[in-house]
Amino acid sequence: MPARSSVVADPTLDALLSDYEANLAPVWDHRADGIFARWRGETGDFAAIAAALPSPLGAIVDLGVGYARTWPIYAHARRAVGVDVSTRMITLARANLPSDASMELVVASMESLPFSDGTFDVALAVRTLNHVPSASLAGALREVRRIARIFVAVEAREVRVDPRLEFPHDYPSALADAGFRVRERVSLEDADLYVAE
Ligand SMILES: C[S@@+](CC[C@H](N)C(=O)[O-])C[C@H]1O[C@@H](n2cnc3c(N)ncnc32)[C@H](O)[C@@H]1O
Repeated sequence: MPARSSVVADPTLDALLSDYEANLAPVWDHRADGIFARWRGETGDFAAIAAALPSPLGAIVDLGVGYARTWPIYAHARRAVGVDVSTRMITLARANLPSDASMELVVASMESLPFSDGTFDVALAVRTLNHVPSASLAGALREVRRIARIFVAVEAREVRVDPRLEFPHDYPSALADAGFRVRERVSLEDADLYVAE
């Protein structure tokens, strides 16, 4: 499939990306009403993600939770925590969740996760890793391994939104380098799902 990417002239985005690492959260805040708002109702990956989760499901952390679009997949978890580097995404997630949802929402970066070792049975990252710059990916994956026993990651095979915002990575190699063993790889419509331990 050819790479689908569109670059819309956006001087604010260009200015933020001049120091991507320092400005990561404002980048996502800036884009919150655009590309990610369109995904609100998309559930195409949900069945595959649900099938990859252990049962019963204990404690799960959703890294790069965005609008908490994915919450219905793990609503039955004993404990659910959503993490996002963007304050505004966390605010939008809170607004998007049902009022009786017991989900903790935390502003943090995957590169430095505010949880002690082995806190979670599962870490989930749905279309988040492509947004971690290459220089930060190894550290971010080591953090995931430190806090969770199983890692379920869904990542698009192609840069599909905007090459200024997405970084294609070699996930099997990156996961292995961080000490994970990829137990399962499932091909989805435009993405791959990895189950790593
Ligand atoms: C493409 S969205 C996916 C959101 C959600 N997982 C979903 O599937 O609807 C990527 C999300 O990752 C967040 N993000 C990007 N880099 C991050 C990082 N280093 N640490 C935590 N979250 C990050 C963004 O703020 C954004 O909400």
